[in-house]
Amino acid sequence: MSRAYDIVKKDPNRIIIFDTTLRDGEQSPGCAMNLEQKLKMSATLDDLGVDVIEAGFPVASAGDFEAVNEIAKTVKNATVCGLARAKESDIEAAGRAIEPASSKRIHTFISTSPLHMKYKLKMEPEAVLEAVKNSVTFARKFTDDVEWSAEDASRTEADFLCACVEAAIEAGARTVNIPDTVGYSMPDEYAAQIAMLFDRVPNIDKAIISTHCHNDLGVAVANSLAGVNAGARQVECTINGIGERAGNAALEEVIMSLRTRYDIMPFTNNIDTTQITKASRNLSIITGFSVQPNKAIVGANAFAHASGIHQDGMLKNANTYEIMTPESVGLSQSNLVMSKHSGRHAFSEKLKELGFDLSDNALNDAFVRFKNLADRKKEIFEDDLIALVEDEITSESEAIKFISLHVIAGTSGAQTAEICLDMDGKEECVKIEGNGPVDAIFKAIRAIKPHPDANLKLYQVHAVTGGTDAQAEVTVRLEENGKIINGLGADADTLVASARAYIHALNKLLASREKVNPQMSSVSL
Ligand code: KIV
Ligand code: ZN
Repeated sequence: MSRAYDIVKKDPNRIIIFDTTLRDGEQSPGCAMNLEQKLKMSATLDDLGVDVIEAGFPVASAGDFEAVNEIAKTVKNATVCGLARAKESDIEAAGRAIEPASSKRIHTFISTSPLHMKYKLKMEPEAVLEAVKNSVTFARKFTDDVEWSAEDASRTEADFLCACVEAAIEAGARTVNIPDTVGYSMPDEYAAQIAMLFDRVPNIDKAIISTHCHNDLGVAVANSLAGVNAGARQVECTINGIGERAGNAALEEVIMSLRTRYDIMPFTNNIDTTQITKASRNLSIITGFSVQPNKAIVGANAFAHASGIHQDGMLKNANTYEIMTPESVGLSQSNLVMSKHSGRHAFSEKLKELGFDLSDNALNDAFVRFKNLADRKKEIFEDDLIALVEDEITSESEAIKFISLHVIAGTSGAQTAEICLDMDGKEECVKIEGNGPVDAIFKAIRAIKPHPDANLKLYQVHAVTGGTDAQAEVTVRLEENGKIINGLGADADTLVASARAYIHALNKLLASREKVNPQMSSVSL
């Protein structure tokens, strides 16, 4: 049986939320995650209430297989899904990887647009149609819950798309996904394509129709909602909208649109919206990919009413400028939080309220850093705590850990950095001169752990709060053989934050593996 199909058959206005943060999201530059990070994120998604977690592309590498398999063992509520091209080896790997899950799905796909069939697949339409039937039939041997996708569906000819959708459903697909793979469609057009399928495909009631919209023209969420209005009952999306190129439809935007405009879109879903902020933050910490301040729902400014007129209106009646409350997305309103007199218990309670559940070790280390910060900074705000704890979480499980830094800077003499790192349990220190203090720090790290093929692509500093005693949050982006890796670091000392950010990026770079991108290689069954 397909759990999602049964849910929608019972309640035709229920939307299935299919989260692809760990698959399509992970395909985007700089968003690669290791096993531990994927497990953390899958637990967060499960708490959030997504119906389906697309956990990865098991055939891509041994690491991807293991991640999907471990997620299948640990996820409690959601259906766990593995991606597969229209290839027996892919489908078999997906089937084996999801095996331990209590509810499991295989998602198999092939391109159907003239462009993709001719240039990417080098296959005739008849052969593609055969591959659709064979791949879905083969996937059904592993699970009753099979999803089939027509890659580049939005640029596919209507007759051929109808034939493929009908064949996939006939072969046993219980969900049929209509991706706007290159983010080309406009909302009216996308809705018309979904409506056309409902009009013309005779067995369409035997499957859920799904949206999967990319954001190249900035309309991924609008397209997804238009698809729902036209009859789609599954939305594929990602936390913070991460994904290939400009990303996928952002889960938080889809969900809060459905909730806020229930008057014109009377659809339900299983998401606990109060978990949204936590999920967004967890993903930013794990990937080192922070969201822009003006991002809808989860950006730092999304609920900040800065202008005088707005603040005046807000004080009189919050509805004047607020269409949803910060609490509804799990954002707490108290901002000024702690001082150097706050104890460990209060600190740990505050972290829980902010959505952080730290191990004992990480909590101890974070508390020591909090006390140091409180000695230097009069007022500690929530954003200070979040930056500090994010930094603690990212470094907890890393092979290379920051120990100490001593920098000589200024106008007299060369700038020098002396850094000590914990290299898999062994302390190593080096002292090096550089062209400025940051250059000296990065050179010192490179001297301890050489990585000659990696280039620094971005070094960015921002103040977590106002004031000259504000903590610095630093982003470092490294590139190695086309692979992009982001690192984040925070500290009251900008140079320490820089070292931490570089070490975070370096750890991720070392952990990253070569793997196949499912949409780059050709297929055949
Ligand atoms: O964008 C896309 O077409 C995809 C498919 C693999 C579903 O991600
Ligand atoms: Zn996609």
